[in-house]
Amino acid sequence: IPVAAVIPAAGRGVRLGPGAPKALRALSGTPMLIHAVHALAASRHVSLVVVVAPPEGAAEAKTLLDAHALPERTDFLVVPGGDTRQESVRLGLDALPPEYEIVLVHDAARPLVPVDTVDAVIEAVRDGAPAVVPALPLADTVKEVEPAATPGDPEPVLSTPDRSRLRAVQTPQGFDRATLVRAHETVTGDVTDDASMIERLGLTVVAVPGHEEAFKVTRPLDLVLAEAVLARRRL
Ligand code: C5P
Repeated sequence: IPVAAVIPAAGRGVRLGPGAPKALRALSGTPMLIHAVHALAASRHVSLVVVVAPPEGAAEAKTLLDAHALPERTDFLVVPGGDTRQESVRLGLDALPPEYEIVLVHDAARPLVPVDTVDAVIEAVRDGAPAVVPALPLADTVKEVEPAATPGDPEPVLSTPDRSRLRAVQTPQGFDRATLVRAHETVTGDVTDDASMIERLGLTVVAVPGHEEAFKVTRPLDLVLAEAVLARRRL
C-alpha cells in the first residue's frame, strides 16, 4: 500500500523569534523543511511528500526541493497553506492523488525524526489502526491551572494528572486516509493535532513509541539542540 506524507510548513514560527517562516530557517545550513522532507522520504514506504508551504513562500519551497534531490522512488508536490495548521493539513489532503490509502501528517518543525519512528507508525496503520501517534512518557510533572488573564501572573493550580498515564505526542501521525478526510470534513473547533480529530469521531487512536530526536523546534533553545543532534550524527 503506497504511503503519502503531508508536511504542514506554513506556520510563522513566532515563538522562535523574528525571521523567515520557521520551516525555511536553516539547521546546519539546510532549511528545516528540507530536513523534514528527507526524514520522511527516508522511509522506503513513502512515495509522495506533499509540502504545505507559506503562501508567500511556495515558490521558494519548490526551488529548495528541486535543489535537494529526494530518493528516486519519492515524488513531491508543493501547495499553499492556510491560516491554521488544521486548514493547512486539509489543503494538503485535498492535493493527494486517489491511490494513497495511508497518509502521514508530519510537522516541518520536527526535522530530525528518525526513519525507524516513521516506519513504526506506518506499520501500525498497516496493521489496521485508523490513527497512530508516536508518543513518549513525560519527564516533567504536568499541572492543570486556571490560566491568568495577564501572562506571567501567578496561576492557581487545579489538579495534577497521574504522570504515568500521560504521553507527549509527536509526529508523523499516521492515518487511514479516508478516515482522516472524514474527520476534516466533520470535526469543527480548535485542535492541536490530527489524531484528536479522529478521537472526536469516536474511533480509537493508538500510540507507538516516539523518539527523543522527533522533538519539535519551537523556541530558540530547540535550535541549539537540533544543531547538536546533527553534529552528533556526523561523528
Ligand atoms: O504552531 P505549531 O508549532 O503547532 O505548528 C506545527 C506545524 O504546523 C509547523 O510545521 C507549522 O509550519 C505548521 N503550520 C501550518 N499552517 C499554519 C500554522 C502552522 O502549516 N497556519
